[in-house]
Amino acid sequence: MPESPQSLFDALAQDYESMRRELKWDPFVHIREAFRDLPLKDLDILDAGCGTGECTRWLAQQGANPYGIDISDEMCFIAADRSENIPYLAHDLSEPLPFGDARFDAVIALGCLEYIENIEDTVAEFARVLKPNGLFLGCFERYGDDCPGKNEKNVVFFDEWMRFRQSENEVRQMHDKYFESVDITRVRGFLLEETNEYTQYLRVIAKGLRK
Ligand SMILES: C[S@@+](CC[C@H](N)C(=O)[O-])C[C@H]1O[C@@H](n2cnc3c(N)ncnc32)[C@H](O)[C@@H]1O
Repeated sequence: MPESPQSLFDALAQDYESMRRELKWDPFVHIREAFRDLPLKDLDILDAGCGTGECTRWLAQQGANPYGIDISDEMCFIAADRSENIPYLAHDLSEPLPFGDARFDAVIALGCLEYIENIEDTVAEFARVLKPNGLFLGCFERYGDDCPGKNEKNVVFFDEWMRFRQSENEVRQMHDKYFESVDITRVRGFLLEETNEYTQYLRVIAKGLRK
């Protein structure tokens, strides 16, 4: 029985890309929306919780300079194996990021933030490593009457594996603190096959650090 997101994702890594399709999770739709008015060419982008690097590779193909980090060594090995010249690092997003201030033009964190308990510290770190006019794109799992698991703040998955969920107000407050412009949209997450329901996310596109 897996004991942590790290061991669980290590175990899933080989099959993650086909599983992502089966569970109908599409991170690309959110990337396209966030960068609609911002050409990707030459942008330094942190792909946090990059998994096997599908998005990281796509960003590189668009001319960006992505950097992938993920808690799972296996995910990082596979990502590195599938792409040339993209740096990947095994790192836990609950810990301070191993980058200096203002290192990135953008940070993306898709499909991964619900596995982190003290998410406010992680958001603070994203803001720290962003340049003053930087862009943050992230998806936070939402709780609420219309969500699987209703108003349970956190839900247990595969017996032991916790997903940490947020309300829209909580997500707004944690981003308003750092960013001038915060756009929050309710979007669909991935398919929970047992119940045929989708997890529900709050997609955040936040721009420009507060002075
Ligand atoms: C569902 S996958 C998402 C991968 C990719 N971003 C996508 O959207 O397809 C979640 C990823 O988050 C990573 N992850 C979970 N908890 C993490 C943490 N605390 N720090 C860094 N990565 C984490 C997992 O290892 C896994 O690769």
